[in-house]
Amino acid sequence: MSATKNSIHPKRHQLLSEELRKHNLDALVLNPGPSLPYLTGLHFHMSERPVVVFFSQNHQPVVVLPELETLKLEGLDYEVQAFPYGENPIQWVESFKSAILAAGLENARIGIEPRALRVLELNFLQKAAPQAKFVPGESCVSALRMKKDAAEVNAMRKAAEIAQNALLATLPSVKPGITERQIATELTLQLLRHGSDSQMPFSPIVSGGPNSANPHASPSDRPLQAGDLLVIDWGANVDGYFSDITRTFGIGPVEPEFAHIADIVLQANTAGREIARAGLTASEIDQATRAVIEEAGYGQYFTHRTGHGLGLEGHEEPYIRGDNTQILEIGMSFTIEPGIYLPGRGGVRIEDDVVVTTGGIESLSSLPRQLKILES
Ligand code: CO
Ligand code: CO
Repeated sequence: MSATKNSIHPKRHQLLSEELRKHNLDALVLNPGPSLPYLTGLHFHMSERPVVVFFSQNHQPVVVLPELETLKLEGLDYEVQAFPYGENPIQWVESFKSAILAAGLENARIGIEPRALRVLELNFLQKAAPQAKFVPGESCVSALRMKKDAAEVNAMRKAAEIAQNALLATLPSVKPGITERQIATELTLQLLRHGSDSQMPFSPIVSGGPNSANPHASPSDRPLQAGDLLVIDWGANVDGYFSDITRTFGIGPVEPEFAHIADIVLQANTAGREIARAGLTASEIDQATRAVIEEAGYGQYFTHRTGHGLGLEGHEEPYIRGDNTQILEIGMSFTIEPGIYLPGRGGVRIEDDVVVTTGGIESLSSLPRQLKILES
């Protein structure tokens, strides 16, 4: 890991301390998941051996981990206090107890990430600190993670570029007769060939014909037919940062209503990208895309929110939803992905990854957004 990358963690610890104060928490405890490398630079697999790190107001990070993982703690750009444990699970709770004592958290209010922490870790924590209160504290980390710095945006820009090049390399094989699954396989291969890390943000969604009306369809063995709409939703991973892009294609000429809804979705996507800037709320972006689709009479067929935050997770804050009053700030990154889905017939979605800048937004994805008719 480079020195520049390494020097960011003390700064993030300081910002986290401020968030803990704001949220009236004494500490935050994390287990392996996207927030842990973000705050520590440490990479652990989630396994049957629990790993937790405590971050508290006035104490260096405290780590409970298996002895065989302790080498990972060398060369960090901050001090940690470690409580390693051996292979016998009977002894593990002692390491948790020592860690709680060292950090002075016996009676503390400790934030957890409900989407990440397992019952496994929580049981050890509660046994080690029966008087402590464990409460949701994910907003402390998401407040930090939402605002990307230049290095993070660079990784995301690269993830978008790799994804786009992988799709361009896949398109020549897309023609009537090929199945959704075959396209997804080829796209996955191309993502890896173009430099995506092997852990994909999600398996590519490739949905043709009637399946394209299902926003989260899994690739099937249905062969593409002339006249189908084809929705491809895919992404790459660079240093843990994701891209998440969708484009829609026609397998040869499509019926007029399909071309019409593709036009409306493009207008909605454009409206979202044009209005998005610092100072607006997430809900205002949702309203902007939705208004276009509603005015065109297809409101009932736009069945999901406009987008979601993107970064170390495929879905994270800020969620671009009609009821989200989160104010957009410079560095926040999210998707704009309106769609229209005609049940049983076909759907269109156009998804871009954007980051809020001083001048509005930068779209990290740039492939043409018009319905592209693939001639066989
Ligand atoms: Co997507
Ligand atoms: Co998305």
